[in-house]
Amino acid sequence: VAETAEYDALGWVYEARAAANPAAKPSWRYYGALCGDCPGPVLELGVGTGRVALAAARRGARVTGVDCSRAMLAICRAQARAENLTDRVCLVRADVRNLPLSEGGFALVVFPFRGIGHLLDDADRLRLFAEVRRVLLPGGRFVFDHYLFDTAWADAVEGVPQPAGRVATPAGPAAILDTYWFDRPRQRLRCRIDVAIRDGTRLGRSYLSFSWTGPEAMGALIEASRLRVEAVYGDYGHGGLTADASQQLWHVRKEP
Ligand SMILES: C[S@@+](CC[C@H](N)C(=O)[O-])C[C@H]1O[C@@H](n2cnc3c(N)ncnc32)[C@H](O)[C@@H]1O
Repeated sequence: VAETAEYDALGWVYEARAAANPAAKPSWRYYGALCGDCPGPVLELGVGTGRVALAAARRGARVTGVDCSRAMLAICRAQARAENLTDRVCLVRADVRNLPLSEGGFALVVFPFRGIGHLLDDADRLRLFAEVRRVLLPGGRFVFDHYLFDTAWADAVEGVPQPAGRVATPAGPAAILDTYWFDRPRQRLRCRIDVAIRDGTRLGRSYLSFSWTGPEAMGALIEASRLRVEAVYGDYGHGGLTADASQQLWHVRKEP
């Protein structure tokens, strides 16, 4: 695992920034219930600060959470301790492309809130799917979501700082500003996240790298990985993946 991860510099504002994203709460509720109701062992990839894993553990599930960021895992671990959930939440610092977990241990694997976008090319996405297939029990399920790239939105926001939430700091309330740049041919985007107080003093700057994959290409990668697509939805209410859908939500199974 790399010594530092992109989220190490972002951990302290992650939840404030995510809360300003309209997709965050529905995502956390959806995965929290899905994982919480799973009778078998659950694996959350990119567990982050634990919004999903801890919700599932509160419902009685046993969850293993993997993340490559020490800062995100530290927040998750502190929260698990504060809530006395450490016996149900096992945290592992690892890369999702190379899981230090044995074969066939999980009934359900999830990669919530667009985490797969952090894998930047098909080779990495194929590595992920192969690892997911390996650690799933026969008949087990993999659920993840991803963006639907919106060209008009990208054209409108590129290079222009966008408000992305507020966070309380010892120096006073601070604004979070996201600035995006898109590499359209390679289907990648880079996001700069600035945190600044009212007088303009910058308290933090970090960067995230993402990629986007259309539903057809994603489906082909899943099938090439010998996983079976059960359903693909366009939102957390299981609406269809129509032209105006807000995202891709995949339900995939390993054959029994
Ligand atoms: C968008 S956050 C999602 C956090 C959490 N699941 C949630 O729903 O709030 C994505 C997380 O994936 C982690 N991540 C990104 N790439 C990773 C990789 N290759 N291996 C392990 N974790 C990774 C990041 O460190 C980050 O914590």
